[in-house]
Amino acid sequence: MIKFTIITLFREAVEPYLKTSMMWKAQDKGLAEFDFVNLRDFGLGPHKSVDDTPYGGGDGMLLRCEPVFAAIESVKAKDPNAKVILPTPVGEIWTQEQARAFANGEFEKIRCRERSGALAQVLLPPSNFSNSPANAHFIILCPHYEGYDERILSIVDYKVSLGKFVLTGGELPALVIIDSIVRLIPGVLGGEQSAEIESFSDGDNLEYPQYTKPYDFRGMTVPDVLLSGNHGEIAKWREEHSGTI
Ligand code: ADE
Repeated sequence: MIKFTIITLFREAVEPYLKTSMMWKAQDKGLAEFDFVNLRDFGLGPHKSVDDTPYGGGDGMLLRCEPVFAAIESVKAKDPNAKVILPTPVGEIWTQEQARAFANGEFEKIRCRERSGALAQVLLPPSNFSNSPANAHFIILCPHYEGYDERILSIVDYKVSLGKFVLTGGELPALVIIDSIVRLIPGVLGGEQSAEIESFSDGDNLEYPQYTKPYDFRGMTVPDVLLSGNHGEIAKWREEHSGTI
């Protein structure tokens, strides 16, 4: 069972997706659990404030340490082994290898850039989906507003970036991270092969083109080899039509 506790000010932006399709199925089968902590509950003063202006000046507001530490510590008080993920544009770029490592419980092998002191090392877990699913608890802290006080990093285990662009907050990255991990847990997707032979399952590979009925759609026909029933030829065609990035 993988558990995610999402610390956010905007639960309503995150929850509907987790109640849909595969994420719902994963919960229903007892393979994943999602919990929410409202950062506002740990806010300061009568207005339950969670942010303030940056020292040294500059635009926007930063998440303060006190509410964030209190929220994370409230979760860790119940589960000291829970690991904290922070979506941030300055994190390590999220990849399929990392998603697989988290799904397989090999996440200890992924080390943050600042912890390893060098370029982040991602030690690949065996790409073997018969591994027992991880028993793990991740706390995903969703920053919002302009940013966060740098001291918050002292309580973070993994900084994750989705790419070279900036989003308004951590809610969308949290969903992307969760979805990419949970779909790899054995039993969540229909056939386990669905995840084994897809794009990035072996590094930089891109999956071969696929077709379903009808055979002829507006003059665009399906490659005949796929209807041949010859599994060897089909495998060869797929191999030839797989790409790399
Ligand atoms: N928060 C804002 N932008 C982000 C990004 N590119 N990746 C992860 N978290 C973010």
